Amino acid sequence: MTTDHKDNNMKLFDVYPLYDVTPIKGEGVYVWDEKGTQYLDLYGGHGVISIGHAHPHYVESVNKQLASLGFYSNAVKNPLQEQLAQKLGKLSGCTDYQLFLCNSGAEANENALKLASFTTGRSKVIAFKNSFHGRTSAAVAVTDNQKIQAPINNNLEVSFLELNDAESLKNELSKGDVCAVIIEGIQGVGGLDEASTEFFKTLQSECRVNGTLLILDEIQSGFGRTGDFFAFQKHGITPDIITMAKGMGNGFPIGGVLIHNMHAPWHGMLGTTFGGNHLACVASAAVLDAIEEEGLLQHAAEVSQHFIKEAKTLPQLKKIKGRGLMLGLEFDFEVGDLRKQLIYEHHMFTGGSNNKNLLRILPPLSVTKEQINQFFNALKQCLITVPS
Ligand SMILES: Cc1ncc(COP(=O)(O)O)c(C=O)c1O
Repeated sequence: MTTDHKDNNMKLFDVYPLYDVTPIKGEGVYVWDEKGTQYLDLYGGHGVISIGHAHPHYVESVNKQLASLGFYSNAVKNPLQEQLAQKLGKLSGCTDYQLFLCNSGAEANENALKLASFTTGRSKVIAFKNSFHGRTSAAVAVTDNQKIQAPINNNLEVSFLELNDAESLKNELSKGDVCAVIIEGIQGVGGLDEASTEFFKTLQSECRVNGTLLILDEIQSGFGRTGDFFAFQKHGITPDIITMAKGMGNGFPIGGVLIHNMHAPWHGMLGTTFGGNHLACVASAAVLDAIEEEGLLQHAAEVSQHFIKEAKTLPQLKKIKGRGLMLGLEFDFEVGDLRKQLIYEHHMFTGGSNNKNLLRILPPLSVTKEQINQFFNALKQCLITVPS
């Protein structure tokens, strides 16, 4: 009798198109696969690896905490949360905010939108064309991609406006029924578009006039990614709510919501089982330590300048997008094959976006100018056959 083992094996729910690479080890800006091949990681696992793979201080902090207390619930005191808030306030300059901890980017936005609705008593939201805010209930409803919205997500009333369209914004807000405007510091998945300083300022003033809360989604653009702690800080505004995740934990799942002190909490308003757990707190605190001690904000800004200088020498390039180490190279062809070539022939990870012509760079903030040079050497070899 033969047994069909295949039928007995549990399969993964196959939702991810995968590259044929299996990283099993990481250090700094490199990962290695099971055959020992080294890859230069200019993707950072989608902007998550902020201080580098297996950063020694990070590994030591998480290990030490795991050996003493890995988890206890939010029903008891956890001074690690306060220590994290102190460090975060100091490094980001956002000392006028309160911190709520959760587990992912979508959850941070979900809580931010809920908070805005609780605070204003309203339910309508303004978001922007090409936005991405996550895949859960309200977060996916304010994401401009119908393909990932199920019928159950269609109950929230959302107006999607063009970035920088101040007239439509004023018009929508003046109706007085909008609880929140949610906007990315720099659009990530959408393809690195950013609203102008003038528009951000209008957004802030119009939100205040109309009693609407301004939510800055800094999930991808925050935690030093752009050389500023948060991307919005370049525009000189003060959002009501800031959401964070990705680089916050350098791979440990953690998200956070910063709520301006003018908005008060009440017990039971928000909550989570795992959010703010002991391991997550020390992981994120270690990220902040490394950002501060290694001067990674300044470093990111400097390496970014170098990247831009090198990029300008590419005759095939149409546009450089983004800021800091949240960068994109736009060509007049789709970059899918180029990304494959970079992975399989040159052993370098890069990112994509909704804009199929945009090659995205989201490396650990510790990436060096030499590593950027290696990337451009490889890229130039790949582009030899592409007419300028
Ligand atoms: C700007 C932005 N917001 C929200 C999210 C959702 O985060 P998560 O995948 O952790 O739920 C992402 C993820 O790519 C993002 O880029």
